Amino acid sequence: EKIYAIITAAGSGNRMGMKTPKQFIEVNNIPIIERTLNKFYDLNIFDKIFLVIRQEDKKFIEENLSKKFRDIQIIIGGKTREESTFNAIKLLDDDGISVFHDGVRPFVSKDDIIRALDFFKGKNAVVFAVREKDTVKVVDNMKVISSPARKNIFRVQTPQIFSNKIIKEAYNKFYGKIEATDDSIFVSKLGEEVYIYESNYNNIKITTPEDLYLADLIAKEEDY
Ligand code: C5P
Repeated sequence: EKIYAIITAAGSGNRMGMKTPKQFIEVNNIPIIERTLNKFYDLNIFDKIFLVIRQEDKKFIEENLSKKFRDIQIIIGGKTREESTFNAIKLLDDDGISVFHDGVRPFVSKDDIIRALDFFKGKNAVVFAVREKDTVKVVDNMKVISSPARKNIFRVQTPQIFSNKIIKEAYNKFYGKIEATDDSIFVSKLGEEVYIYESNYNNIKITTPEDLYLADLIAKEEDY
């Protein structure tokens, strides 16, 4: 069975408040996107790796991305995360499975990817997640509506692994109709079961400036 990887890196990085989009910021001297690509590339299990970027970053990517990644297929993203992802999904075969990953999660563990692919066998949807450590409240207008039991709360990350057939069907049906901050929302909406692969807390999404402090520490530990 063919396995594809889709790395989305077409965000503007507004929340980082820097001119350079966050995926190109260097952490311990290596750009975030290169760190992420290395993980997937070095595993050597993917039939094809797609990298989704903004049109305005294409030149920069072509000039600066390590030559090692020359067989990665570059795709131009869209205005939203979902649009960027959909642009890649449209190119997928119906057969096979795909691993979707945020370009700004460079600390994903390669061992976890392998273990999650094993866990995926016989399923259609597996998402990385960690147990919530804080108590979570559902809030409306700054007023607490409910307090879900913490033991049932997981924080969802990427990678998210789907059968191509299912993710294509989910996007074709729900893209643009409901908001989805992750792809598994569309898949759940189809009535498909989505399973959790318990990942680790290092797999952070580098989004706001304070994330860079932690990213630097994790990178130094990883590079050591
Ligand atoms: O915006 P958010 O942090 O949820 O983005 C998650 C991932 O989706 C990031 O890797 C970002 O680069 C990507 N993205 C994208 N196209 C957009 C917006 C976000 O590929 N229009």
